[in-house]
Amino acid sequence: MFMPEMNNSEHLHPTGWKDYQLIDSGNGEKLEQFGPYRFVRPEAQALWLPRLQKAEWQSADGHFIASERGGKWKLKDSIPENWHMHFEDIRFFAMPTSFRHLGFFPEQSVHWQWCADKIKKFKEIHARAPRILNLFAYSGIGSLHAARAGAEVTHIDASRKAIQLAFNNRELSNLNDAPIRFITEDAIQFVQREIRRGKSYDGIILDPPKYGRGPKGEVWQLQKNLPDLLSDCTSLISNSPLFLVATIYAVRMSIISVHSAIANSFSTKLGQITSGEIFIKEEDTVSNVKPRALGQALYARWNGLQK
Ligand SMILES: C[S@@+](CC[C@H](N)C(=O)[O-])C[C@H]1O[C@@H](n2cnc3c(N)ncnc32)[C@H](O)[C@@H]1O
Repeated sequence: MFMPEMNNSEHLHPTGWKDYQLIDSGNGEKLEQFGPYRFVRPEAQALWLPRLQKAEWQSADGHFIASERGGKWKLKDSIPENWHMHFEDIRFFAMPTSFRHLGFFPEQSVHWQWCADKIKKFKEIHARAPRILNLFAYSGIGSLHAARAGAEVTHIDASRKAIQLAFNNRELSNLNDAPIRFITEDAIQFVQREIRRGKSYDGIILDPPKYGRGPKGEVWQLQKNLPDLLSDCTSLISNSPLFLVATIYAVRMSIISVHSAIANSFSTKLGQITSGEIFIKEEDTVSNVKPRALGQALYARWNGLQK
């Protein structure tokens, strides 16, 4: 009987944030701190009662009200269009978006830190900067963090607005001279062109949405396109392999399937695969209730570094 090797299973949660906190959760919502402001957002995983009084929730600066057509923010007048936040020495803009999020995903910091550690090790071993490809890279905090750690980064996103956000974050982080190429392109088209040109990358980060469109209307559908994209990513990995990090948010898939997809693509390569869920955890501030955890995404990481 086929049994995927799931012994490298690890659930991860972000640490080291000063500007972000999960304050409370419950009744299908979460209360979070983003810099100086507090927001209430829908959270399907919050299957319990809140720890804090209603008044704490009601005093939030913004509340995303979900509806069948997506929903919208109810914001206090005092909320600016955007504001500054930071993680380690990367600075970036936060803002309420129509997609419910605030322009970045705090739980992704588990990957930023893991990648930075591998990038630094790679530089010690190979005495050169690793080439990292960040697909579906959005507002670019992963790209900026990797560049700060010493990588040469190629940042791909289909949306001009997302690339502009990444430029703004680069400027705010004082990384205008960092070796990052920002390209507005369909992820599949870009990867296939790089294969035709004989290009390679030491590390690849991908965080594909369930559904998306390239700049020329190319359709991205996770369940349909992921197998080919992973196979193409394997072809793009250099002879000094570093990593592949995949995160899946939008679809409630089984972690065994995500692990198996990466294991299948990388079966001919040396290296270890770790997979699990990324979760956020409430602050331990309420004495009589233990902090609860909310699963946010599935991930699988292939570590190709042999030392
Ligand atoms: C979930 S976000 C990625 C979040 C990002 N990894 C981060 O940590 O901030 C998905 C991104 O994929 C982009 N996208 C959607 N379809 C795409 C396509 N066909 N090619 C490239 N990017 C695409 C969207 O513009 C969006 O910025």
